[in-house]
Amino acid sequence: MTKERKVDLYDELGADYDLMIDWKARLKNEMPFFRKLFAERRVRRVLDSACATGMHAITLAGEGYEATGADPSAEMVAKARANAAARNADVRFVQAGFGELADKTGRAFDAILCLGNSLPHVLSDTELDRTLADMNEALADHGILIIQNRNYDKIWPEKIKYMPLNTAVAGGRELLFFRMLEFHQETMTFSIVTFEKSAGQWSYRVSSTTLRPMFRPQLAVALRKAGFSNLSFYGDYQFTPFQKDETMDLIIVAAKD
Ligand SMILES: C[S@@+](CC[C@H](N)C(=O)[O-])C[C@H]1O[C@@H](n2cnc3c(N)ncnc32)[C@H](O)[C@@H]1O
Repeated sequence: MTKERKVDLYDELGADYDLMIDWKARLKNEMPFFRKLFAERRVRRVLDSACATGMHAITLAGEGYEATGADPSAEMVAKARANAAARNADVRFVQAGFGELADKTGRAFDAILCLGNSLPHVLSDTELDRTLADMNEALADHGILIIQNRNYDKIWPEKIKYMPLNTAVAGGRELLFFRMLEFHQETMTFSIVTFEKSAGQWSYRVSSTTLRPMFRPQLAVALRKAGFSNLSFYGDYQFTPFQKDETMDLIIVAAKD
């Protein structure tokens, strides 16, 4: 039963996902990028795949876009719906993972987002082909796909293990989120260690998931195979061209033929 489907780390994190992320700063950095592309392409209907707590979809709905969010984690979808209700935002949230978007969320989207390093949850080439073909099917003709991953062309060879510490204070809790990667032959274990001070005592818990590095050349081949063209590669949300040894992110904009 999909309703009880667990997506390990994300179900465990639940509402703390929004405490780990500085949404105000993040959206301020990212939204101008989407606004510019969406205006150029006359985008109206947007699907945020792997939407987690729904903040991109909610923000887009607030700007007048018809927004849908999809995520396989029951916890994330529940939190996304609660976030939308608290902000009076008109967003449809669907519990659906990669490979089932066209069937479960519908087709003819003008844009699909896949942000926050979500695509590396896809663990094989076959699954990647299926995921991108599904996204292509869910798009209208000439629709665009925007993917934002971490830059594994740098992270993987340099074995960059640690990410910056995030902190939050909320509801009498003090939280530190420590994120790290362990590198294996073909995959990585991504762990979030959450340190929490509550009633004067510190405790911690560890949640992990498996990621697979996605390199720019392989992604370009897979995207073209799935029917995408006009690929652009950026290193950040300021449209800086991607540089494999420099930038920490890989942002791809691809158009459906
Ligand atoms: C790091 S979060 C990113 C969320 C959000 N897009 C952001 O930018 O903050 C990764 C998300 O991918 C989702 N996810 C994990 N496996 C997935 C799959 N197979 N298909 C679709 N989404 C998946 C998780 O439930 C989680 O919400």
